Amino acid sequence: MATSAAGPVVIIGSGIIGQGWAMLFASGGLKVKLYDIEQQKITNSLENIRKEMKSLEQLGSLKGALSAPQQLSLISGCWDLREAVEGAIHIQECVPEDLELKRKVFAQLDLLAGDDVVLASSTSCLLPSRLFAGLAHVRQCIVAHPVNPPYYIPLVELVPHPQTAPSTVDRTYALMQKIGQSPVRVLKEIDGFALNRLQYAVIGEAWRLVQEGIVSPGDLDLVMSNGLGLRYAFLGPLETMHLNAEGMLSYCDRYGEGMTRILRTFGPVPAFSGATAEQVHQAMCAKVPDDPKHLAARRQWRDECLRRLVQLKHEVPPE
Ligand code: NAI
Repeated sequence: MATSAAGPVVIIGSGIIGQGWAMLFASGGLKVKLYDIEQQKITNSLENIRKEMKSLEQLGSLKGALSAPQQLSLISGCWDLREAVEGAIHIQECVPEDLELKRKVFAQLDLLAGDDVVLASSTSCLLPSRLFAGLAHVRQCIVAHPVNPPYYIPLVELVPHPQTAPSTVDRTYALMQKIGQSPVRVLKEIDGFALNRLQYAVIGEAWRLVQEGIVSPGDLDLVMSNGLGLRYAFLGPLETMHLNAEGMLSYCDRYGEGMTRILRTFGPVPAFSGATAEQVHQAMCAKVPDDPKHLAARRQWRDECLRRLVQLKHEVPPE
C-alpha cells in the first residue's frame, strides 16, 4: 500500500486539468483529494483516472515509482470543501476560466485555509492581481499554469501576485519538481504569461501568412510540424540562435539586421474572423472533420505522439 507522510494535495474542479493534476500528484506519491461542485463529476473523474492509469501502466508510460493500483489508492473523491482542505499542503484550483467564479472559489478557500497551505490557480490567462485581490492569504497565492495535457507536457508557469511570499513560489517550484513537472518562474505578471504570448505570436503570423496568400493553411502547419517544431521539442529559440552560429553574439551579428528588417514587416493583429477564418476552417476540416468522433480520435493520436516524444526525451542523454 502506498503511503505519503505529507498532508494531501487538494484539487478543486475535476475536469480535464483537475484529472491531469490528480494523476501527476499521485505519481509523486502524494495523497490527493478530488473535489468538485458536482458529485457525479468526481465519480466519473475517478473512473477516467483509473482507466487512464491502467492503460499507461500497460504501455510502460506510467509516471513515478509506484504501480497504478498504488497511485490510485492515493486519490480519493471528496464531496465537502471544508473536509477536503483540512490539513492540505497545496490546493490546486481547476474550475472553469471565469474570473468571478474563480474569485468566489478563492474567497471560500481564504476562509477555510490555514497559514501554511499554498493556494494555486490553474488559470490560463487571468492575472494574479485580479484573481487574488483582497484575500487575507494572498501571500500564499500563486498561479501554477499547466499545459494541456499536463501528464505529457511538463511545463508549469508559476506567476506570483505582487504580494505573494517568495517562500510560496519556492515551495510550489519544489513541489512541481517533485512530481516530475518542469516549473518556470514568470517574475512579473503579464497578460498571457510567457507561453501564450509566444504561442499567440506564432498564431498571429501564421494567420497573416495565410490571409496574405503566401502559404496554404496545410503547408503553414507543416512549417511547424516538419520544421521548427522538431527543434523546439528539445531547444528553445534562444539556444537555437546560440547553436546556429558561433554563439549568440555571432548570431546577432550575422542575422540581427535581417531579423529586425523582417520583424518590421509583420502586419497588424488579425481579427481571427471573416474569409480567412472560413478558409482555415475548411482546410482543417478537410483533414480532421470537426465532429466529436474525429476530434477525439485525433486528440488520441496527438497524446500518443506526445507520450512517445516524452519517452524519447527521457532516453536521450540529459541536457
Ligand atoms: P473543465 O470544464 O474540464 O473542468 C472544470 C471543472 O470544475 C468541472 O468538473 C466543474 O464541474 C468544476 N466546477 C465548476 N464550478 C466549481 C466550483 N465552484 N467548485 C468546484 N468545482 C467546480 O475545465 P478545464 O479544461 O479542466 O480547465 C480548468 C482550468 O484550467 C481553467 O482555468 C483553464 O483555463 C485551465 N487550463 C485549461 C487548459 C486546457 O487546455 N483545458 C490548459 C491549461 C489551463
